[in-house]
This record gives sequence, structure tokens and C-alpha cells, in this order.
Amino acid sequence: MKPRVFSGMQPTGNLHIGNYLGALRNWVRIQADYESIFCIVDLHAITEYQDPTELRRRIREVAALYVAAGIDPAQSAIFVQSAVSGHAELSWMLTCVTQIGWLQRMTQFKAKTENREAIGSGLLQYPVLMAADILLYQAAVVPVGEDQSQHLELTRDLVQRFNSLYGETFVMPATSLPAVGARVMGLDDPTKKMSKSAEGAGHAVWLLDDLKAAHKKIMRATTDSNPAVDFSNLGDGVANLLSVYQAFTECTTETVRAEFEGMRYGDLKKRVAEAVVAGLEPIQARYREITADPAYLDRLLDEGADRVRPIAEQTVQLAKERMGLYRHGS
Ligand code: TRP
Repeated sequence: MKPRVFSGMQPTGNLHIGNYLGALRNWVRIQADYESIFCIVDLHAITEYQDPTELRRRIREVAALYVAAGIDPAQSAIFVQSAVSGHAELSWMLTCVTQIGWLQRMTQFKAKTENREAIGSGLLQYPVLMAADILLYQAAVVPVGEDQSQHLELTRDLVQRFNSLYGETFVMPATSLPAVGARVMGLDDPTKKMSKSAEGAGHAVWLLDDLKAAHKKIMRATTDSNPAVDFSNLGDGVANLLSVYQAFTECTTETVRAEFEGMRYGDLKKRVAEAVVAGLEPIQARYREITADPAYLDRLLDEGADRVRPIAEQTVQLAKERMGLYRHGS
């Protein structure tokens, strides 16, 4: 039997080329080697207020983008988190073995709540729900961006704690980080990671950007005051453009060096823009096909949830039994 892989994305904001190069494409590549489960984590999304109509729309958009990017629904299960009740159930059981201090220490929690007064407790619980996602399917491998490493460590701590309190129950999951160069920075500010929620019009190339607009955003990307590419002195902006180029064209670092050393920034940007557009074009074409038939997406998500539900139910039963919850086990 193939080892199981689980990962997910929040249906908030727009997916961008950083989400594609840093996560989605990685999932596509490994899906054949694992029993793959990819989730749209709407329960995580509501840790911050979401407009219900908008959330409903985004869930479908992200699901369609998974498929458009190359996740094969015949091979991998694609489903919406809230369609499988086990996520919320296991999350509660794990909450009860989690210390508040562990959660308060999470850098993402600290970043999200900095200078804020009214903080929803869902934000604190966020990593516990994430652990539940993973443990519910006894996933062996979890491919995520580097910003999620700490949450994965917490997940392993929870496995350790639960298993030692109640006996072997959960599989210890391993983190799988994407190859270097997959961390895409903001086009308007290359010192900050490209973000789904950033406001600036020139910040990110969205996967569903009009191709002309995508081209234009790359042409306007922030570089530095040098006139041309100098590998002995690369600014953050130029380094980011080169790494986006390399990621989309899948060429080697040597090829990039040979191709771009000494090139004027205008010409560099043109080539990067062309590579990005060439990468987005087939994704957008598939996206249009998929969304042309709304019933197809409904079916796909229903089937995905039906496929994973028995696994989830089995784990919930096991956890209940181990904890001595009502009428489970002897
Ligand atoms: N927190 C993850 C992110 O923001 C999304 C996520 C939720 C996730 N549950 C998960 C990722 C389980 C991997 C496994 O990217």
C-alpha cells in the first residue's frame, strides 16, 4: 500500500504563483507516489470572519484550481473539510491534550494577533484543527510551505502526547518542504513573501489574472538601481524574478546564469513574463473547462468526501475508544 499524503489550502484570498510553485505543483508531482488527499480547509478559513457568499465562491474556485493545476481527481481525493465531520470531532479531542502555552508560542498566531484586542479563540486553536486534518487520515507525509513547519512540529508533539497518554493511536507525520526557489516574494516588495491578502495591485500574479495583466505586473516588478543582471551582486527583486523564471521553466541554475548574466532588467522581465504567461495559460484553459460545468465540480467534491469519510470515521472511532468516550471499546 502506498503511504498517505495530506495537504490543504484555505479558501481565502486569491491563489497566486507562489501558492502554485511552492505547494500546488509539488502536490501534483507527488500525487502518483502516494495515496493523496487534498483538502479545501474552510473550517480554518472561518477562524477570521468570511463573508458567507464570498466563502462559498472561493471554496469552489480553489477546488477548480486544484484540478486545473494538475491534481487528478481519479488519483487523488479532493474534498471540502467541513463536509467530513471528523475534522471538528478529532479537533476537540486533540484540544484536550494541548497546552495553551504551545499555541500561544506559534509564530503565525503571534503574527496574526499582533496589536489586536479582540482575538477569536479559533485563531489560537488553528494548529490543533490542522493537526486533526492530518491525524484523521494517519497521513505519513505532509507537503507544505516552510511557514507551516512549526504547525507540523506541534502536530508531532500532539501525536507524542496522545499516544503516550492513551496508547499508540496516531501515525507520526513527516513534513515535506518544497525545493529551494519555490518561495516566491512580492513583486512590489521582494523582502516580503507573496501573500494572498496583500492589497497592492502589483504585489502578486494571481493564477486567474488576465494574462496581459500578469505580463504587465512582471514588467513593473521592483528591482534595484543596477542596470543589468550581475550574479555577483543580485538584489532581492532580481533574484526573485530569476527564481520565478527557473521554477516555471524548470531549467538549471547554470542555464539561468548563462542566459541572464549581464542582461538589462527590461529584457529580463520580458523573458520572465513570457515564462509566467506560458505557465498560467494551460492552467487557466483547464479552469475554464472545469467551471463551465458546475455540476462536475459538485460531483467531484462529493466523491472526494465520500472517499475519505470512512478513513476519518475509523480514526474518530479509534480515538474515542482510546479515550474511553461513551460506548466505544470495551
Ligand atoms: N495551515 C495551512 C496553510 O495555511 C493549511 C492547512 C490546514 C493544512 N490544514 C492542513 C496544510 C493540513 C497541510 C495539512 O497553508
